[in-house]
Amino acid sequence: MDAIRNGQIWLSLRKVMKVSEPYAELLERMFAEIEAHVPGLDTYKHNFGILISSPKAQVFYHSDIPGQSLWQIRGQKRVYLYPTGAPFLPQEGLEAIVLNEADEQDLPYHSSYDDKATVIVQPGEMLHWPLNAPHRVVNLDTLNISITTEHFTTEIRNTYVVNYANGILRRRFGMENLSCSTSGPAFLGKMALAAAYKYSGIQKQKRFDRKIDFAIDP
Ligand SMILES: [Fe+2]
Repeated sequence: MDAIRNGQIWLSLRKVMKVSEPYAELLERMFAEIEAHVPGLDTYKHNFGILISSPKAQVFYHSDIPGQSLWQIRGQKRVYLYPTGAPFLPQEGLEAIVLNEADEQDLPYHSSYDDKATVIVQPGEMLHWPLNAPHRVVNLDTLNISITTEHFTTEIRNTYVVNYANGILRRRFGMENLSCSTSGPAFLGKMALAAAYKYSGIQKQKRFDRKIDFAIDP
């Protein structure tokens, strides 16, 4: 905690619900309460992370695949949330993330984008945003403790499938003007295509490798 308070570090505790029963119960309670207030909402594949980060630390411009929420526990941060769609989120950039060919942070960013929304989150507040909306986060001059939750719905899963299949059709078959529709016969075909590539492991060969270019001094 001292190192975080006085340094430039993000400590990211991932999949907390897998190692802690109380947190697993809390996570399920959070989504049960949200679903009770949103008719028709049915979420699954819940994920719970705890972020403990230094004053002024930042997370660069990126886009996430699952549904995301940020729950602020301590400290303050400025969250920049950008619109979906070009130039903020180019379709090909999203497909590269979904296909695991790129890091979430490989999206092109320009400081002029910042003219769009920015918001400061305080302890006790939570933020939720449109699916895949690019964002970046800058801590104010305080130690920050936040929770991130992730979830899927059938709609989010279908959007993932379409982006995955479109990415393959664009890269391997040179197709353009691809529909993003998540229903109808074309969608079912894309679902089959995505499944074939995913489970055959063909796409895995193109996988982006996360390189660890540092060593922690214990
Ligand atoms: Fe994110």
